[in-house]
Amino acid sequence: MSRVVVKVPTKITIAGEHAVVYGVPAVAAAIPRFILITMSLRSDNRIVVETQGLYARLSRVALDRSSDSVESLASEDDARRALSYVTTALRLCEEFLGVGERGYDVYIESDLPASIGLGTSAAISVGTIAGCLKLRGGDPEEYRVRVAELGWRTELEVQGAASPMDTFTTALGGIRYIDPGAGSVDRIATWIAPAKPIPLVVGYTPRRGTTAELVAKVRRLRSSAPQLFDRVMEVIGDIANAIRRAIEVGDLELLGRLVTVNHGLLEALGVVDREHSLIIHSLLEAGALGAKTSGAGSGGAFLAIAPSADKAGEIAIVAKGLGATVVATGIYPRGFSVEGQRPRPRPRSSLS
Ligand code: MEV
Repeated sequence: MSRVVVKVPTKITIAGEHAVVYGVPAVAAAIPRFILITMSLRSDNRIVVETQGLYARLSRVALDRSSDSVESLASEDDARRALSYVTTALRLCEEFLGVGERGYDVYIESDLPASIGLGTSAAISVGTIAGCLKLRGGDPEEYRVRVAELGWRTELEVQGAASPMDTFTTALGGIRYIDPGAGSVDRIATWIAPAKPIPLVVGYTPRRGTTAELVAKVRRLRSSAPQLFDRVMEVIGDIANAIRRAIEVGDLELLGRLVTVNHGLLEALGVVDREHSLIIHSLLEAGALGAKTSGAGSGGAFLAIAPSADKAGEIAIVAKGLGATVVATGIYPRGFSVEGQRPRPRPRSSLS
């Protein structure tokens, strides 16, 4: 196979962000907004990453694996940061397969900004590993859980701290009950069968800070009163368990109420900004059954549960009126897929 295209969904957190980092369960779902990664092997030992949409200033960055030197129009630090998920994922994939280092062309397309809490970095890690497996003779479909696990290890290495939530949800798709303490990777992300479709509105506002910074902020808060904040985390885990049951029996009203309670606890953890507070209150007033910040917070993604698909349309209009960008109104049932070849867009700069 000379060129592969991997399509990876992004995701929302229905309950449990931040608390999941401390080992309690969470519920997350894939959404039909995608990262597309086109990959091929190079004849030299360079990893050349082109991005379209995610990092405007870093549209083409290369790492020479033999000399560890970076070629970029941006600063070396920025370039290494932009490359880090892809280069780490490729190394972990090669180690997993027991094959030698190669050079790769990696072209990443997304119409979502980076770092808004929709799991774009997880999708890039998962997609790069799936593409590498396919190019180097493995079968990413057969190793889907292993792709998720290697994606998680990529996030752990790059960010320092990460739960398995984002990588397992984008790799496996659908609605997932994430249990970081499950003991075996096969049991980390259980599929939740919804009794009925969940009318949703997913949107985002600009975000301040990275996931790693926000996880560190919550860690500092927790260390100021560990016993108290561990109880808050536990309650968030209880909410995730109750939300799983509400989805399984199709109780949308209970689901909505629980989602809003989770939002209140994210406020308590200090990761909800003024703009999100205003949006969440406004969406509830507009008829949402529940609404919350989704992801690491400080702006970024939010979601609302609507009583019907028609009402979701009305709620989406309210969200847009408040300056948010609406990105999805439903859940995507599948995880990543590896597709056939397609023509690659022409490079835009002089690095080759
Ligand atoms: C990020 O999407 C969600 C956090 O819980 C971090 C993580 O789970 O790794 C804040």
